[in-house]
Formats: sequence, structure tokens, C-alpha cells
Amino acid sequence: MEFPCPEPYRIKTIETIKRTTRPERERIAAAAKYNLFNVRAEDVFIDLLTDSGTGAMSSAQWSEMMLGDESYAGATSYYKLKDAVRDIMGFEHFLPTHQGRAAENVLFSTLIGVGTEGRSKVVPGNAHFDTTKGHIEFRHARAVDCTVDESLDPTTDYPFKGNVDLDRLEYVLKTYTREEVPLCVLTVTCNSSGGQPVSMANVRAVSGLCRAHGVPLFIDAARFAENSYFIKKREAGYAEKGIREIAREMFSYADGCAMSSKKDGLVNIGGLLCFRDEELMRRAMPFNIMYEGFNTYGGMAGRDLGALSVGLREATELDYLEARIGQVARLGSKLESYGVPVLRPYGGHAIFVDAGAFLPRVPREEFVAQALCVEAYVEGGVRGVEIGAILADRDPDTRENRYPALELLRLAVPRRAYTNDHMDYAAAVLGSVYERRDRITRGYRIIREAPIMRHFTVELEPSG
Ligand code: F0G
Repeated sequence: MEFPCPEPYRIKTIETIKRTTRPERERIAAAAKYNLFNVRAEDVFIDLLTDSGTGAMSSAQWSEMMLGDESYAGATSYYKLKDAVRDIMGFEHFLPTHQGRAAENVLFSTLIGVGTEGRSKVVPGNAHFDTTKGHIEFRHARAVDCTVDESLDPTTDYPFKGNVDLDRLEYVLKTYTREEVPLCVLTVTCNSSGGQPVSMANVRAVSGLCRAHGVPLFIDAARFAENSYFIKKREAGYAEKGIREIAREMFSYADGCAMSSKKDGLVNIGGLLCFRDEELMRRAMPFNIMYEGFNTYGGMAGRDLGALSVGLREATELDYLEARIGQVARLGSKLESYGVPVLRPYGGHAIFVDAGAFLPRVPREEFVAQALCVEAYVEGGVRGVEIGAILADRDPDTRENRYPALELLRLAVPRRAYTNDHMDYAAAVLGSVYERRDRITRGYRIIREAPIMRHFTVELEPSG
């Protein structure tokens, strides 16, 4: 008999969440201009907006908070984190930053530049995350997506849809000069292609190509522990290996990594920028000091550095990952039991609902994934996030809307914060919207948008 996989922890502190009525939520959505980033968190019942910084810390992390050393330079908490980064990730050199995009800012300032020198440059990778792409485009460079075509078919169970298409990467590396490709960024797991993992074989091969062309490879390590878990479960030769051993091998192929520690660092704020080469870190240091803070705290409080040192260890425990990935998969299978079309295989941190298939009558020009996002909130107070044309933003040259291959609603699961019952509730809410999908025919029109990363602040009105 196979036992279910319960959470390997129990609850010590609780936070009450509030239920609202449908008429209240209709008013709230309208007042928020149909952008759920504008909704107050207290008006959300199950918040699946993001898995970033929304997890629950352990009692071991909270006790580390009390031990936090707030010295400006050389704090004990910094050295605890240094030990954890070396043990878990295998990097000797790192700079703390206040979050993931800050690490990107420091890294790209160092490797791409801070002015217009980025104009002729390209940064290949697998479906760069929006802040990554934002930082690249802000420097007038271009992010070139080399993800495998398998990632475009949401119905197949291809195990590593985050992989880079090696021919495509090689083409980029051969077409542009070494100076025009300042780095390659490999995101594990790949958020923008549905929380899909990258295989070890692919990391190794990408690394080989980059080395052959003299291009540094940096891993976007926000969800490196979840990626390591998928390698263990899905890739031949890794079933018997430990998560940390897998993680260290993965990082061994890279020249460094930028990490939002708000995900697999199991903390509420923080980031890391790790380097294999001390000289490269030295080049990054002035930017870190200018933008983030001195090199031993980088925008983080000492207590947060300490909590992260514990979080990195907890996030790479197999029992934790088993329950974590299992909870996300439970949400996926419950949704499918209601007939809701979701991206396969299930992602590590989130389930991606195929909004285009869910609401085929809403025209893509009316932001179909956003329409579904608002429906889920109004139906049952579940907040997800649009991963569709609003997020894809406008082409920086033509200023035309970019329409991605898939219109998705992402339901991201905070780590250790919700129970399996909460997942069942969220699935039922989407199931209920699905029952009346034929009556949803219109989406939204933009009434105000920012010139870059518009999804956070966009304002909308119903187009019908
Ligand atoms: N890289 C990836 C793959 C991410 O998913 C994120 C953030 C970042 C970088 C930036 O990190 O937020 O700490 O500055 N993702 C969040 C999300 C916001 O909801 O997926 P940050």
C-alpha cells in the first residue's frame, strides 16, 4: 500500500485569511482596474499570485533571525551564508543582493554595461524571466530565446521542457562574435515555459557550447532545488543521488549564478550573485556597493542572511521537496479532474492553466489569460497571475503587442504556507468557472500602461 505524502512539518503559528462575497469581489476587481496586483492581499482568500517571498519560514529560521548579526562589515550571519553557499551550491565567491532582479542588475551592469554599449549585444537562454529580459532590454541588448520546441505543446509529457535547443544556441554563438554575446543565462526551473526543468545533460551540453565559444554561462537559480528534484526523478542515472549532490553538479557547469532567494532560499526577501572566478566578482563589486550595499550584506539585514543560510539547507531536503512538488501536482490533478486544461507536465512551483483552451471564445487581442485571472478571483477569491500578452509586453522596436504562443494563468504555490485542502478549494473555484466557460466571450482593453514591464501597473476595462 502506498502512503500519501503529507507535509513533513506541523503548524506552530497561523494567520487568519478572510472570505469575501462575490458582489464584494466584483467591486474590488473593478476598483483595481482589473489588475489583481492592485487588490489588497486581505481581500484575497487563496493567494497564488506568486511563490516568491511568500513562503513560511521554519522555527530554525526564526531562531536564526534572533541570532542575526547586524554589523555593517563581516557579520557572522554573512559567514554562515557563505558556508551554506559553498556547501549547497559549490561557489566560493558571492555577493548578497536584496532580491533576484538586483543580482541581475549587478551582473548585467558588469557583463553587458550600463550605457548604450549593449545595443549590438544578445543574451541567449531558455525563455528568460521578465525581469531578466527587462534588464537586458533596458541595456538595449536582446534576449534570444533558445528553448526547445517541445515547450510549445502544452499537452505532451516531455520531461524537460525547460531545455535549451542546442542547435539554436550554437547558431547564436556562431552568428555573433564573442564580444556580442556577453553571457548565456540558463533558468532552472524555467518559469516562463511553465516551471519546467532543465536536464543535467542539457546543462552540461549548454556549458560545453558556451565554453567552446568563450561565453560565460550563468544559471538563474531561483528554483534550483526544484530543478534538482526533477533531475533525480526523471533523468537516468540520478535516482540514487542526493539533491545536494545533483545541485552541486548542476552548478559545477556554470561560471556563476544569479538567484532570487525568495523561492528556493525559503526566505521572504533576498538574492545572491555567485561566481566561480574571483576576478569577475571583483569587477561586479563596485556595482554591488553602489546599488545594493557593502559586499557582506548587499541590501539584506544580517538576520535575513542568517535565515537564508538555513533556508538553502531546508530547501534541499528530499522530504520537503517531495511534499512541495507533490502539493503542486495535487493542484494540477484536481484541476484536470474538473476538465480544466493545464500545461503538462505539472510545473515545480506552479500549475499553468491553458487560458486559450479554457476560454476559446475570448479574442487574444482582449487578453484572454487576464480574463481568466479576473474570473478566478471573482468566483472564489483565488488570485493567480497572467502569463500572456500583457506580460509579453510590446516589441521594443515596433511597439506592437507581442502575442506569446500560449496564454496562461499561473497558479503559483507559496512554499509551506497552504495545506492540501487549500489546493482542493482553488481547483474547485477554477472548475466552477470552467462549467460556465461558454458564457465568457469578452476580455479587456488597456486604458493605461507603463513603457516597460507593464503588467504590474496596467489598468484595464472590460471590452464588452
Ligand atoms: N528569475 C526568475 C526565474 C524568477 O522567477 C524571478 C522572480 C526572478 C528571476 C526575479 O527575482 O523577484 O527576487 O527580483 N519571479 C517572481 C515570480 C516574481 O512571481 O515568478 P526577484
